[in-house]
Amino acid sequence: MSKPRLAVVTGAARGIGREVVLELLGQGRIVAGLDLDAEGLENLRQAAAGQGGTCTTRCLDITDTPKLTEVLNALAEEYGGIGILVNNAGITRDGLILQISDDDFDKVLAVNLRAAFMATRTAARSMVRNKFGRIISISSVAGVMGNAGQTNYAASKAGLIGMSKSAARELARKNITVNCVAPGFIETEMTEKLPEAVKDAARQVIPARKFGNARDVARAVAFFAAEESGYLTGQVLCVDGGMAM
Ligand code: NAI
Repeated sequence: MSKPRLAVVTGAARGIGREVVLELLGQGRIVAGLDLDAEGLENLRQAAAGQGGTCTTRCLDITDTPKLTEVLNALAEEYGGIGILVNNAGITRDGLILQISDDDFDKVLAVNLRAAFMATRTAARSMVRNKFGRIISISSVAGVMGNAGQTNYAASKAGLIGMSKSAARELARKNITVNCVAPGFIETEMTEKLPEAVKDAARQVIPARKFGNARDVARAVAFFAAEESGYLTGQVLCVDGGMAM
């Protein structure tokens, strides 16, 4: 049986997700980008067309998990299975633990962890049938080290690591690998909104003394996504200029 060429990337409209889509297209994959930002998805399709790859998009809120499951199943049906899943969509609702609201906790967990679990479960069903799969979740150094002001976010990102290691143990025999990429500070809209003082302080604790870019992360995702990376599972690869070592 040939391996499915379809890669699904959540949060594909901008930032790291967009770069992951373009990187995987460059490797000859068919890529489906999911996001709730219709305009961003249109821009992505144009960029992909310029590059000559096959990119399809679906506009949805991944916290609508029945819809997410329906979209993933339809894509698997249309393209002969899901070969790669990249759980990239993520949000922050930062605050100190004494101030963080119930809603800010629940929203972050719903996007960053619950939806990623649902996508992983659905994709894994398709991958088990095809006896091949690569699942990569974008965690964060905050999930590895913790970060003041991000208890909700760090919980979701540490949750992705626990989920991935458990799934890796379950799925290794089926030729399905499950790994995490944990970025440090990367230049995207997510970090653009941080106050300058916070960014300066961050640079002081990064041995490389600078933020990374989305492509640095996309290259690590592509490494785990490659067919040749089949003996690598349950790992967390920090792409962080040396911050978390
Ligand atoms: P970003 O904010 O630039 O892009 C996130 C994308 O996810 C957006 O296109 C947004 O529309 C989409 N999205 C958000 N909620 C969604 C939902 N409910 N349904 C569908 N799509 C949704 O973020 P960035 O920086 O590209 O981050 C990507 C991933 O990398 C996130 O999981 C983030 O937590 C993680 N990360 C980012 C770091 C950074 O420094 N930028 C550091 C560590 C981790």
